[in-house]
Order: sequence, then structure tokens, then C-alpha cells
Amino acid sequence: MTPDIHAEKILILDFGSQYTQLIARRVRESKVYCEIYPYNMTVEQVKTYAPAGIILSGGPASTYGDKAPHLDPAILGLEIPVLGICYGMQEMVIQLGGKVERTREREFGKAELLAGDRPDPLLAGLDFPQQVWMSHGDRVTGLPSGFEVVARTDNAPAAAVADAERRFWGVQFHPEVIHTPGGRRILDNFIFTICGCHGLWTMKSFIDSNIEEIRKRVGKEKVICGLSGGVDSSVVALLLHRAIGSQLICVFVNNGVLRKNEAEEVQQLFGEKLKLNLRYVDASERFLSRLDGVTDPEKKRKIIGNEFIRVFEEEAGKLGKIRFLAQGTLYPDVIESVSFKGPSAVIKSHHNVGGLPEHMQMELIEPLRELFKDEGREVGRELGLPEQMVKRQPFPGPGLAIRIIGAVTPERLAILREADSIVVEEITKAGLYDEIWQAFAVLVPVKTVGVMGDERTYEKVIAIRAITSVDGMTADWARLPHDLLGRLSNRIINEVHGVNRVVYDISSKPPGTIEWE
Ligand code: XMP
Repeated sequence: MTPDIHAEKILILDFGSQYTQLIARRVRESKVYCEIYPYNMTVEQVKTYAPAGIILSGGPASTYGDKAPHLDPAILGLEIPVLGICYGMQEMVIQLGGKVERTREREFGKAELLAGDRPDPLLAGLDFPQQVWMSHGDRVTGLPSGFEVVARTDNAPAAAVADAERRFWGVQFHPEVIHTPGGRRILDNFIFTICGCHGLWTMKSFIDSNIEEIRKRVGKEKVICGLSGGVDSSVVALLLHRAIGSQLICVFVNNGVLRKNEAEEVQQLFGEKLKLNLRYVDASERFLSRLDGVTDPEKKRKIIGNEFIRVFEEEAGKLGKIRFLAQGTLYPDVIESVSFKGPSAVIKSHHNVGGLPEHMQMELIEPLRELFKDEGREVGRELGLPEQMVKRQPFPGPGLAIRIIGAVTPERLAILREADSIVVEEITKAGLYDEIWQAFAVLVPVKTVGVMGDERTYEKVIAIRAITSVDGMTADWARLPHDLLGRLSNRIINEVHGVNRVVYDISSKPPGTIEWE
């Protein structure tokens, strides 16, 4: 029998904090399943969901404001333990008859948490004073009956409050961020001691339970999957392969803008080594002829996205009726589309493998829908995906096309491929590949004057982009060691014909983006 990995779960109600996903990740890291739902989930929905505990997230609003998001008050009558964080605490306090007021100054940053009069289960095991991270403009000034203060800071006399009898806790600070070093302990105290969870959520049990589910759903039907060589689609392919073997057909399309040796490596790993049922389609000429003369980045994206769909459809057509399409959708994409904030503004249209037209009418299989990226990686490891693939840096769907400024030509592609492979090789050799979010080369087809040997040259520029980031939403340029930058420049100029100058991009995001196009 496979264990029921959802047997115990924590419900996180989202009031719009930038840290809500972080709360979920912390809970999952402690091996307890949790999901994020919008703050306005009804008491009936919560009952059906049957969580072992509820966490109310922080949020930017003021509980007394006109447009403040409010919790269905009946949820607090369910006798389920609740932990309110920041706005979540204030909302709980207000609902139960307490008082919240604006402070004169916003309290932001590190604060010292001081012990209350009595030991409290939420704070068990912490030494005081304890550093915590604050970020709020309001604070609790009157407690509902039954509540007591269990910890304070100089600025927040009610930094942590509790009604142990009804199992309600609230903290004004953010236990989910790294600047609250005792935060993990606090969240663990809540989910294990207070809610009674055991920690059943492991990636091994996730795999077992999913394999069973996939087999039941698919039966003897076929599943098609677009393999890109990136982590997510690779993990989906391996999981389905483990579940249904050759009923899974993977399609890997060479769109002509892949990195050096990529097409060969993907075929070797997935086809020959891991023995997946892999169809390799070399459509590079089709893609390149469509891209001929196109300089606008958004047009490049659209062309590559549309052409991919055409090639994929044609390939699927050759295979007869296929009922299912597998995709590597991850949990953050799912939350994004249900969150009350709505999807964040689209700055660049992204065309990823898998976004197929409706008329294909296939049923979707998205086995990673419940997982964060790191959990997906862990699943990959468990399924035998080589570490080098597990840790692979993100690579955009439109590939090298959006790293060649201006028109994509075979000559420019050849230059960029070589330069890019040198960047990846040297960054890896320097032991920096894993700590850098993305490192790559950009071809700037502007000619500059140089001198090589006794000759004057007039050649192109390669820009190196290396950034650190947590989620790709914001990024900083990596402080690469100067000797590494020196090696990169030397090797690129010496080994890549057509380049006589290398520059390092020192822009952060925002205002820059990670890619140049
Ligand atoms: P930007 O350039 O918007 O990139 O800061 C953020 C992340 O997204 C990747 N990226 C793309 N991925 N299709 C993709 O699949 C695209 O069109 C695309 N554009 C950017 C980029 O590499 C970075 O990881």
C-alpha cells in the first residue's frame, strides 16, 4: 500500500504577502503537505479540505481599511489550530474582538524577541532574546478575551500572542524568512506539536503515489510529452516512463536555436541511457527559415512558439489517436492563476514547451502541479536524473534566438554557441555553476576595432551575463572573480572567430531583465 501523502495537510490562506509561497516552502521542507488558497475560502470549503492546521499569511492591507481582505469568521469556530502571521494575526485578533491600530512608524527589519512570562508551545526550544524579522505598519493593541502575550519586542508589545485553550496563535514577525533564524523551529512547533502532523510528505512517497494514480488514469492509452531538456519536462518524462513505460512518447524538437551539442546530449541521455520512447525531430531548418531577417524579440518568440506547436502537432498526427498530453506545470504557476492578486503583469510573452492549442483536445497530465521547483528536482534525483540535469540552469524556450541581438543567422548562431559553451565550461570549472542562477553569452553584432597579431580587426562583441537570483523575478549581477572574467575573455577572443571584444553585463533586474531581448 502506498501511503496517503495528503492524509495530513496544512492550509495556508493568502492575504497577499510577498512571503506566502515561502511559508508553503518551509512547511513542505518539514515534510508536511500544504496548499495556498485565497483568503476568501469559505468555511464549507475549509471543512471539506479538512486541514490539520491553518496559517493565515501576512498581507499589505490594514485590517480596518475599506478594501481589507477578511477571513470567513466561521473558520475560527472549526476548532482547527490557527497561526496568524503579521496581517493574519491582526485579522484573527480583530475577528475575535481585539484591537489593531496604526503605529506611528512602520517597523521594518530586524528586531529582538523577548520572552513572555510563561513558556509557550509555539516558542518552545527558542533562546531569548531571539532575532526576528518585522515588516508592518499596524500592531495589536488590544487582545481578545482568552489571549495572552507570549513574546514581545521593544516596538511590538504583542509580538506573539496565544489562546492555547482554543489553539490560536499569532506572530507579528515573519517566521518564514531567513532573517528569523528561529522561524523554522516556530513553524515546526506549530505543525508538529500543535497540529499533530507527522511529516509524511517525502518525494519518494510522492513518486509512489503518483505512479499509482497515473497508471489508473491512463490505463492502456498513450501519453505524449514535449521534452525540452530542461528540468521540469525531464522529470515529468521520467515519472511517466516509470509509470507507463513505452506508452509514453516523448517528442524532442530541435528548433535550430539550441546550445552546442544539446540535441545529441538529450538523445543520448533519454533515448540511449534511460531508454525512453523518444522521437527526435530535427526541424532546425524550418525554424531558421521562419526566423530569417526577423529582428524584433517578441516576433522571434511568437515565431518559435507557433512553429513548435506546428511541428509538435504534425508529429502527434503521425502517431494516431493520443488521449493524453503531459506537461511540467509547477505549483507556483498554479497559485499564480488562482491567487486573488491575479497573474503578475506580463513583461515578455513566454512560449514554453507544452503550451498547445485547444483544438488538439488532449487531456492534460500535470504530475508536478503540486510541487515547488526544488521538490521537482528532488523527484528527478529519486528517479535517476543525473545531477548535472537536476541542477541545470534555466534556458528560455526561444533559446539562443533571444540572445542574438538582431537577425538570427547560421554564422551568428555558430559564434554564440561557441562563446556560450566556453562560459558554461569556465563557470563550471570555477565551481560556480550551482550558485549562479544563469550564466550565458549574448551576441552583440556591433563591430568594434581591435588588433590581433599585427592586424587590425573589425569584429563583433560578446556580452557575458551571469546573475544570482532566488526565483528569476529579481536578479543581481554575479560578482564573478576577476581572473575568471579574464579567462572568459581570453578564451572567447582566442577561440571564437568573429569576436574581438568581451564585456561583462553589470545590470540588475529590475531595471534590466535577465535576457537581453
Ligand atoms: P527575463 O529576461 O524576463 O527572464 O528577466 C526571466 C526568466 O525567464 C527566462 N525567459 C524565458 N523563458 N521563454 C522561456 O521559456 C521565454 O520567452 C523567455 N524569456 C525569458 C529567462 O531565461 C529567465 O530565466
